[in-house]
Amino acid sequence: MIRPAIGVLVSGRGSNLQALFDAIESGVLDARIAVVVSDQPSAPALARATAAGVATAVVERRAFASRDAFDRAIAGILRQHEVVLVCLAGFMRLLGAGFVAEFPNAILNIHPSLLPSFPGLDAQRQALEHGVRVSGATVHIVTAELDAGPIVAQAAVPVLDEDTVETLAARILVEEHRIYPAAVRAWLAGGWRIEGRRFVHATTADEMASSRS
Ligand code: GRF
Repeated sequence: MIRPAIGVLVSGRGSNLQALFDAIESGVLDARIAVVVSDQPSAPALARATAAGVATAVVERRAFASRDAFDRAIAGILRQHEVVLVCLAGFMRLLGAGFVAEFPNAILNIHPSLLPSFPGLDAQRQALEHGVRVSGATVHIVTAELDAGPIVAQAAVPVLDEDTVETLAARILVEEHRIYPAAVRAWLAGGWRIEGRRFVHATTADEMASSRS
């Protein structure tokens, strides 16, 4: 059977990309990463992809006159590799509405807070400065609005009095690496639908219904 192809967009370290590779390697995720695209030529994530024997592409924003042209270049590469799902994994650029429309409900992002709290940059610092006692990670479907699409998976962690941005980020990252492969797996399994703002997993609902009867 042909395993579904995923395209991953990165800008940096690539630990979430690695978590996806590891989940595939261990058989938790039945998929293949077809291509890794970075907007940063020096992203360590690219070396992880190469080590895993996966095709890479670098698409630098400055090489394009407009964001649309940049987005189209990335979409073209993903299409060439016939990806069915796009995973943003530390990709630090905003994708336009045109790109989002190219892959309807088929782009996932991981964000280091419990959305809708603390969207945007420096989510862990925002959480710490706000004084919340609980933060976490969210995997959501990407829409044209920043960090606002339907939520596929979340995990919470405590925020401790002695936390720094670094210690909180590290605690959240452990959960990111756990829930991103799980969310990708749920997405690929199908049987879900979007109801308003909600990602509703039909299988889970059916299981709940049958366990009640
Ligand atoms: C993660 O904290 C992710 O939630 C955020 O960017 C960071 C990327 O880390 N979107 P990595 O490149 O996956 O290690």
